[in-house]
Amino acid sequence: MARQKIVAGNWKMNGSSESIDQLVVGLNAAIDNAPVEVVVAPSFPYLAQVDNLLEKSPIKMAAQNVSEQGSGAFTGEVSISMLQDFAVDYVLVGHSERRSVYGETDQVIAEKTKALLASEITPVLCIGESLEQREKNITLDVCFSQIDAVLNLVGVNAFEQVVIAYEPVWAIGTGLSASAEQAQEVHKAIREHIAKSDEVVSEKVRIIYGGSVKASSSSELFTMPDIDGALVGGASLKVEEFIGIVKSAG
Ligand code: PGA
Repeated sequence: MARQKIVAGNWKMNGSSESIDQLVVGLNAAIDNAPVEVVVAPSFPYLAQVDNLLEKSPIKMAAQNVSEQGSGAFTGEVSISMLQDFAVDYVLVGHSERRSVYGETDQVIAEKTKALLASEITPVLCIGESLEQREKNITLDVCFSQIDAVLNLVGVNAFEQVVIAYEPVWAIGTGLSASAEQAQEVHKAIREHIAKSDEVVSEKVRIIYGGSVKASSSSELFTMPDIDGALVGGASLKVEEFIGIVKSAG
């Protein structure tokens, strides 16, 4: 069975109530029954607003982060059950900005993934190497060890319920996207790595690419056999660009 493509917009810490209104109204007008899954990830304060705006829309909603804790004295954190008060279908876990700026470890990321898997929310596990690591030729070692930290905690079967986002750190927000061939090479290696634990799961798991994806380059990415969609940052804040990416995936 073919894997359904996903195009997800990670809005990061951008937007206001007004700009988000315009963005979602624009997306709703352009996307009625897209053949791919379309997802947007607003900041926490706008989840309720976006939830309302998407009520009759096929577009799904993601949160950008979540706590691995259930509830209690964790000031500033947001729990899974809080997200479940809204139509949150996906949560980004381990985005490189969470890892590098906020010091999230592989262990915490694995625990967040585990907690999400116990709910009805799909984790989007973000992995990827830095420029230094790529230059040292350890791209695959880095990606595999980030995956293994989760795999060892949740088991390979759980990966049927996980979306992996391969996002080379050097390509995020830099305008310097990996070429379709570079991305395909890593995606294929990730799938083969999972196949070592379970071949069936490796064929089912969706692996999406992120890092300076634009409408002008996305169709080439989507022709690659192991690229199942995109996680889009900057370009997802512009209706035309994001729609262009969505259309090129379908
Ligand atoms: P970018 O961000 O498209 O702006 O490079 C991607 C991401 O961080 O998910």
